[in-house]
Amino acid sequence: MEKEKVVELLNQDLSGEIEAILVYMRNAVVAGDAACRAARGLEEIALDEMRHAEWLSELIVELGGKPSMSHRELDFGGKEPRDFVRRVVELEKEAIAMYREHISAIDLPEVKAKLEHILREEEWHLEEFEEMLEDM
Ligand SMILES: [Fe+2]
Ligand SMILES: [Fe+2]
Repeated sequence: MEKEKVVELLNQDLSGEIEAILVYMRNAVVAGDAACRAARGLEEIALDEMRHAEWLSELIVELGGKPSMSHRELDFGGKEPRDFVRRVVELEKEAIAMYREHISAIDLPEVKAKLEHILREEEWHLEEFEEMLEDM
């Protein structure tokens, strides 16, 4: 695979991370005291997503690209904290599917290893949010 194509895929991953950071931060603040556990969980996991965004940006630059920092139109979920958590479960599932696809498509070992590390954390996030949803 050409370096440019790898950069393109990593920029897609980066867009997903940026979307997650913004949605989780916003939902954490809006859920606030009414759903304290959800708010804290969202805030904590947003920090993981920031770390992922940083790793992806570093890989993109190492490959001679530029981090695009773009994202889709934001969808925060419905009005209630439960809706927020349902929405982030969807985002984690999408991220997992995209990372799996990109890991099998990309053949650079360093990039693959980093994406596999991120994927494991996304799988853990999904478990956390699903448990949170069950308890709400
Ligand atoms: Fe992430
Ligand atoms: Fe995640």
